Amino acid sequence: MDATGLSRRKLLGVGASALTVSFAGCMGGGGDGDDDIPENTVIVGPDNRFVFEPDSLTVSPGTEVTWEWESDTHNIVVQSQPDGASWEGTEGGETNTFNTGYVYSYTFETPGTYEYDCAPHRQQGMVGEIIVEE
Ligand code: CU
Repeated sequence: MDATGLSRRKLLGVGASALTVSFAGCMGGGGDGDDDIPENTVIVGPDNRFVFEPDSLTVSPGTEVTWEWESDTHNIVVQSQPDGASWEGTEGGETNTFNTGYVYSYTFETPGTYEYDCAPHRQQGMVGEIIVEE
């Protein structure tokens, strides 16, 4: 009886922590806030919304920023950048778009503010900025 009671308590203990883990995992995949986005990553069009998330990201010089597409027909068109910088956004300019699963990365070296948008959804306010700060 003692042994049974002990192993039962153990099992309950395991069950409780497994529950906690799966709950945390569930929260992590929710996509409700910026907290669950990996560092230096921007989600493109999450939940079919015309947004970059986060829409403003501050990084230090030499940081590689990665954009991950979660819906279709988006691109990155650079609207302004610091003198001396030569960021070109996604390949093909305004008319070329990319779909879910596409990943684009760029390493920012020159300090300053970089403004970009998604050409097809510019009117819907799909804009973002990267701020590079020492
Ligand atoms: Cu878009």
